[in-house]
Amino acid sequence: MELFDYYNIELSGKNVVIINRSNLVGKPLYHLMLERDATVTTCHSKTKNLAEQCLGADIVITAVGNRAHFTLTDSMIREGAVVIDVGTSRVNGKLAGDADYDGIIKKASYATPVPGGVGPMTRAMLLRNTVTAASISKGFVTNR
Ligand SMILES: NC(=O)c1ccc[n+]([C@@H]2O[C@H](COP(=O)([O-])OP(=O)(O)OC[C@H]3O[C@@H](n4cnc5c(N)ncnc54)[C@H](OP(=O)(O)O)[C@@H]3O)[C@@H](O)[C@H]2O)c1
Repeated sequence: MELFDYYNIELSGKNVVIINRSNLVGKPLYHLMLERDATVTTCHSKTKNLAEQCLGADIVITAVGNRAHFTLTDSMIREGAVVIDVGTSRVNGKLAGDADYDGIIKKASYATPVPGGVGPMTRAMLLRNTVTAASISKGFVTNR
């Protein structure tokens, strides 16, 4: 959500596809997106027409984490789509996300790389939330 806010990416009325239905990623994201008035579709391993679903999306958030079974490619996204890659996998021994980043970045308006995208962002948010929680517990005023 911080990434969307920082880059002024409007969510209201947008079609969002989330490829993940876990309690950790997909379900909380579904609610966060819905609260911002997006139209949200949750996909998973049993989804039949995944490429078609993604092609209809303004925003694709992918969190599969298994490049042996799934890669988000440029042919699966529409021109100008926003791609948030939460997945962590290995390709030829190297850390990689779900997306073929070099391919999708030519078509997407924004895309997060792996490494260097959602991972460090998550750590930064964890630190901020920790400071906020500690401040509240000590009765300090915070602006978040
Ligand atoms: N960067 C970060 O800060 C961060 C934070 C959390 C997680 N992650 C990463 O995000 C990924 C997911 O984490 P998780 O804990 O949510 O894992 P998980 O519980 O294994 O969830 C994976 C999801 O991907 C779906 N899936 C598997 N194969 C698929 C396929 N071929 N096509 C479409 N969907 C498929 C699964 O569907 P089913 O439900 O049908 O099995 C499931 O919903 C991992 O790589 C993890 O390391 C990163």
